[in-house]
Amino acid sequence: MKDFAGKMKIMVTGGAGFIGSHIVDKLVERGYEVVVVDNLSTGRKENLNQNARFHELDLRSKEDLERVFKENNIRKVIHQAAQASVIKSVREPDFDAEVNIIGTINLLECCRRYDTEKIVYASTGGAIYGEPEHLPMDEEHPIKPLSPYGLGKYVSELYMSLYHRLYGLKCTALRYSNVYGPRQDPHGEAGVIAIFSKKLLEDKQPIIFGDGKQTRDFVYVRDVVEANLLALEGVNGTYNICTGKQTSVNEIFEMLRNITGKKTKAAYEEERKGEVRYCSLNYSKAEKALKWKPKTGIEKGLKETVDYFKGI
Ligand SMILES: NC(=O)c1ccc[n+]([C@@H]2O[C@H](COP(=O)([O-])OP(=O)(O)OC[C@H]3O[C@@H](n4cnc5c(N)ncnc54)[C@H](O)[C@@H]3O)[C@@H](O)[C@H]2O)c1
Repeated sequence: MKDFAGKMKIMVTGGAGFIGSHIVDKLVERGYEVVVVDNLSTGRKENLNQNARFHELDLRSKEDLERVFKENNIRKVIHQAAQASVIKSVREPDFDAEVNIIGTINLLECCRRYDTEKIVYASTGGAIYGEPEHLPMDEEHPIKPLSPYGLGKYVSELYMSLYHRLYGLKCTALRYSNVYGPRQDPHGEAGVIAIFSKKLLEDKQPIIFGDGKQTRDFVYVRDVVEANLLALEGVNGTYNICTGKQTSVNEIFEMLRNITGKKTKAAYEEERKGEVRYCSLNYSKAEKALKWKPKTGIEKGLKETVDYFKGI
């Protein structure tokens, strides 16, 4: 029998979620031994890779987490698990902090106690910088988050730097822009591409908040996965993971109408408060240090996403 317990492993927290499950698939494909921890709050069993070992647990439970570290030789961690809703963080800032800050500290403590070498962290470029002072925003842009979620992600980045200084734990934080692709939740409040794709395919009317001219920097999930794998073996630091391009919500909607062949029109409703109007991030730092850059153009990414939603 394969000696799973003794082997060096990669832990992926949130490995049943949208981005985490794609990371797990790629790690397994490349021959890594993978341990997934997830409490299935937004993640789904169907996303779990059968060749990874799954532990259903909540990061807020120190004891449960410690048990997994004790039983497995966790060499490196890719930390994707989070309360990932900006709106929920505004409604329940204490819950957001419990999962995103305390949960991260629990994980860091296990890394320290069980001699884990490295942690790669899913941070946010969309919610950490606040109102843009220039576009595209680089990592030197002032950090003035507009939500508890953005603040919590930044605090966790700072904890990671602290654990590096105190205990030598290697850390790389990846600040994603707006990630999209297969398995994204089409019923959430965010993830406009998943929501529009599903609605159009079901001949339902999508809602656009505001005039639709607001822009985002949409990065395809496969490119985000690649960034995580490069970060696992690469240098420490903090890097934007994005495309540097702005695409408006109206443009996304038009492209999706063309791809799906649907003529449905969107309904326009009052814009949502607290959202920035324009957003794009600069990835030069990741390009230099991690040798990463986005490879999937928006048309191709949208087609693959629509194909996925057609099949489920
Ligand atoms: N999707 C994006 O555009 C985007 C952008 C920037 C950053 N991020 C970050 O990337 C990461 C992955 O996001 P996603 O879009 O895949 O979201 P997701 O909700 O699909 O994945 C999060 C996963 O974490 C799990 N989880 C939540 N709370 C947990 C807890 N207390 N204990 C254990 N597991 C828990 C969920 O069940 C889920 O599987 C998150 O950290 C998110 O903040 C996402």
